Amino acid sequence: MDKAVNISIIGAGNVATHLARQFVKHPQIHLQQMYNRHIDKLKEFESATEIIGNLSRLKPVDVIIISIKDDVIGDFSKKLSGLDSLIVHTSGSVAMGELQVKRKGVFYPFQTFSRQVKEMDFSAIPILIEAKYKDDLKLLQYVAGLLSENVQVINSQQRLALHIGGVFVSNFVNRLYAEANLILKENNLSFDLLKPLILEVANKVQKLTPATAQTGPAIRNDGQIIQKHLDFLKDEKQKEIYKILTDRIIDTLKK
Ligand SMILES: NC(=O)c1ccc[n+]([C@@H]2O[C@H](COP(=O)([O-])OP(=O)(O)OC[C@H]3O[C@@H](n4cnc5c(N)ncnc54)[C@H](OP(=O)(O)O)[C@@H]3O)[C@@H](O)[C@H]2O)c1
Repeated sequence: MDKAVNISIIGAGNVATHLARQFVKHPQIHLQQMYNRHIDKLKEFESATEIIGNLSRLKPVDVIIISIKDDVIGDFSKKLSGLDSLIVHTSGSVAMGELQVKRKGVFYPFQTFSRQVKEMDFSAIPILIEAKYKDDLKLLQYVAGLLSENVQVINSQQRLALHIGGVFVSNFVNRLYAEANLILKENNLSFDLLKPLILEVANKVQKLTPATAQTGPAIRNDGQIIQKHLDFLKDEKQKEIYKILTDRIIDTLKK
């Protein structure tokens, strides 16, 4: 396949914005239209594509990408049930079957996106795809391959597992940064002191498995130090988090 693909995007959030930024600069992609309930949020793309606030103005295209709030994807898709275009969503946790359209699929870029971040290098971002029909899967493979060097076909169950994995390594780890920041602050220390450690841990798992990379009092099963840390912590929730994670690490020693 070596043709220009016509794509329209529904949504004006983080993912819609980043995908649109990639599409408008790609020579083999024509961003036909962008739709959002509030069209003022699509100002950035005014000169690059047609902005619409009414779904009846959607034109036939190769692919329509719905990138809106997870909870409403299924219901929203009903409004597009009469269209012949391939219609995909970008969610990690919504099954492909929830789309109430004729030709359905998923186009899931696995990264954390914030519209405030200007440029993203899509070439290294895994794009996980799924489609009801073989030819549509080929089309998605082609489109995803124009953006990323890492395109994989996975099913809805696998995508859910991947999303949950992402929550652990991204959202939860970030919350742990916030807890550590609170502990340091109470003791007049700067979060900056933790930054080299944060980077080293993230770098280490690029080469070692997480199990091999594990260090600290829990993996040494150093009971006295663990108790000292628990005595030091005043916040009950922080004590709980410390205990749950420590027990989990110690459990792995028994296997
Ligand atoms: N952010 C990420 O890092 C990330 C990564 C991978 C996949 N995803 C997935 O990508 C999708 C979009 O996420 P996002 O972070 O870009 O979302 P977001 O920034 O919160 O944007 C939400 C979008 O949903 C629209 N919306 C909300 N309720 C709606 C409704 N009832 N009817 C129609 N449109 C509605 C909003 O329209 P208005 O502007 O009119 O409110 C807005 O365009 C989700 O499925 C998410 O799981 C997100």
